[in-house]
Amino acid sequence: MADITGIDGEAIVRAARLLGEGGLVAIPTETVYGLAADATNGLGVARIFEAKGRPRFNPLICHVSSIAMAERFVDIDPVSRRLIDAFWPGPLTLVLPLKQNATVHPLVTAGLSTLALRMPRGVAAEVIAMLDSPLAAPSANTSGRISATTAQAVADDLGAKVDLILDGGLCPVGLESTIIKVEGDTISLLRPGGLAAEEIEALMGKALKRMDQRAAIEAPGMLASHYAPGAAMRLDVREIHPGEALLAFGPSRARGAENAAHHLNLSETGDLREAAVHLFDYMKRLDATDAALIAVEPIPHEGLGEAINDRLARAAAPRG
Ligand code: TXA
Ligand code: MG
Repeated sequence: MADITGIDGEAIVRAARLLGEGGLVAIPTETVYGLAADATNGLGVARIFEAKGRPRFNPLICHVSSIAMAERFVDIDPVSRRLIDAFWPGPLTLVLPLKQNATVHPLVTAGLSTLALRMPRGVAAEVIAMLDSPLAAPSANTSGRISATTAQAVADDLGAKVDLILDGGLCPVGLESTIIKVEGDTISLLRPGGLAAEEIEALMGKALKRMDQRAAIEAPGMLASHYAPGAAMRLDVREIHPGEALLAFGPSRARGAENAAHHLNLSETGDLREAAVHLFDYMKRLDATDAALIAVEPIPHEGLGEAINDRLARAAAPRG
């Protein structure tokens, strides 16, 4: 079982040393826990895919601790630069053209000529700065399982496969980063996430180009393999059947809620930020009960509700 350590100067030094040797370290970020390796170390990156059991064609997000570090690897256009200035560090990932001589290992980009980059807050940035190299880090969960938002969830899922787990408590955002790609005048939302699309639209004064979510979800390898609990999921539920587990939202209850076998509320007050923080943890807890079905109350599609509903739709989709 991997060592779980609280965060102090010694833990940061130890994490950076392990990563420099091609090790795998689970690190908290504001969004979810990342399964991190030095992005320039092919052996370390290969271990990420091995630990997650993830198909190799899926490119990974890289994490930097400064804009200067980002510029060692990618070219930053003026629109992306504005987004970076406004939202880094934070839950925003930008897909940017890779520099010719960039030393990121090709496994990270799955051979693409672009790199997905973000700057996290807190301990992750401290480890990256100490290592002085970007970290490739997908969410710290086995492929197809729910993303980990606590150190314990990482340990339960990947414990034996990582060298060290840094315990930073519950992730403050709780959803993976929002992924954006700028092409000419078009700003595309590749993945809704922890930064609400409306915040980007307000800054840029224009609408984001959204992918057809149903098409995105049905794209091969996107849905069936993502965010899937073992229990079946039923969404937008206004009536609960006896024996179901209830994932509630807000102050008012679906009909029959008193018959639910288990019950957790994402946010009693109907606050979408609070709901995002609890989403993966509560899905996991209800999945660990004996209930065969998790019924989810309706969640509004505005703000972080867009990303919450995206993750729920993936979790509820038929398994292939
Ligand atoms: O919040 C997050 O983003 C978390 C934490 C750990 O930072 N990381 C995360 O990474 O979710 P990962 O590797 O699981 O996200 C991969 C997503 C995939 O949907 C992938 O298709 C997209 O990023 N992606 C990566 N590189 C890309 C690229 N060059 N072009 C387009 N999409 C890319
Ligand atoms: Mg993931």
